[in-house]
Amino acid sequence: MKLKNGISFALATAVMVMVPSIASADIKKGQKYYLKDCKKCHGNGVKGAAMLDQDEWDDMFANDGEEIIAVHEDSENKKAIKYFHSKRFKKHAPHLRDFLYEYGADSGKVPSCG
Ligand code: HEC
Repeated sequence: MKLKNGISFALATAVMVMVPSIASADIKKGQKYYLKDCKKCHGNGVKGAAMLDQDEWDDMFANDGEEIIAVHEDSENKKAIKYFHSKRFKKHAPHLRDFLYEYGADSGKVPSCG
């Protein structure tokens, strides 16, 4: 019993220590990817993240970004469609979501160096 508790306590502590650093790394990564992937069409990160509020970003990136892919298909912008069907978008999507959600229009936060 003692040993078991000891282990789970250590595990819980490790998880608690790790989670915030992982989350902030993703937001930073997301910002970097936004600037590379989206800025050319949507302007800097401040403007981009403020396009939608947090719930809307959540919806956009649900089901592997189904909604945000659909929005760009509707735009009939060839470059956008190509990008949203690329492996690059798939790989970047979770980080992009974290960045855009963190700074969504109703978050009250503004990214630096955006
Ligand atoms: C090659 C150009 C291009 C790229 C790259 C691009 N978009 Fe778009 N995006 C568009 C166009 C065109 C539209 C449709 C017209 C509009 O709403 O501006 C659009 C629409 C949107 C909308 C809907 C806006 C609304 O008011 O409903 C969101 C959100 C969005 N883009 C986010 C992104 C994000 C996030 C990225 C990067 C991961 C990205 N876009 C990359 C061209 C692009």
